[in-house]
Amino acid sequence: MKYGTKADYEMLTPRFEDHARGALVNNLITMMGMLKGDPLGYQIDRYEHSLQSATRAFRNNERIDLVVGALLHDVADAFAPENHSDAAAALLAPYVDEETHWVIKHHGIFQGYYYFHHLGGDKDARDRYSESPYFDACADFCQSYDQNCFDPAYENMAIEEFVPMLEEVFSRPSQINGIS
Ligand SMILES: [Fe+2]
Ligand SMILES: [Fe+2]
Repeated sequence: MKYGTKADYEMLTPRFEDHARGALVNNLITMMGMLKGDPLGYQIDRYEHSLQSATRAFRNNERIDLVVGALLHDVADAFAPENHSDAAAALLAPYVDEETHWVIKHHGIFQGYYYFHHLGGDKDARDRYSESPYFDACADFCQSYDQNCFDPAYENMAIEEFVPMLEEVFSRPSQINGIS
């Protein structure tokens, strides 16, 4: 790369960015597909869980950022299981509002409120973030759009219904790319 000229990068950079943007929504849906399969002891798999999370958020008239965040909150279970909240938040960071990013980044530890104590941990581990302006939003997300989203009887929206929302959010100018 160090021998590349200004002209090279003026050709290469938009070519990559256009390709990446053009493929992004499809790639995200493909990644979500990796959540299909074994329900791992729950009543539905993580793919249906993700649809249910986003469906409940949508039907509750949440803003598009949170609906898309809900849809993708567990997508990294497939490739970053030890830090899936961080990985999903990093994926969303350039495109969503600060609150949605914070909520997704911390949803794993806030989910612990429902089960950490059953495994010898501290259900109130989330309290280390009690000073955050987004504490309540994250607690609400877990209560309304995560811990309750394993219901096999709930009618989830189809992935296709979320595509326009994905396209809107992921076509925004990047908030973290200093070049653009
Ligand atoms: Fe999660
Ligand atoms: Fe989840």
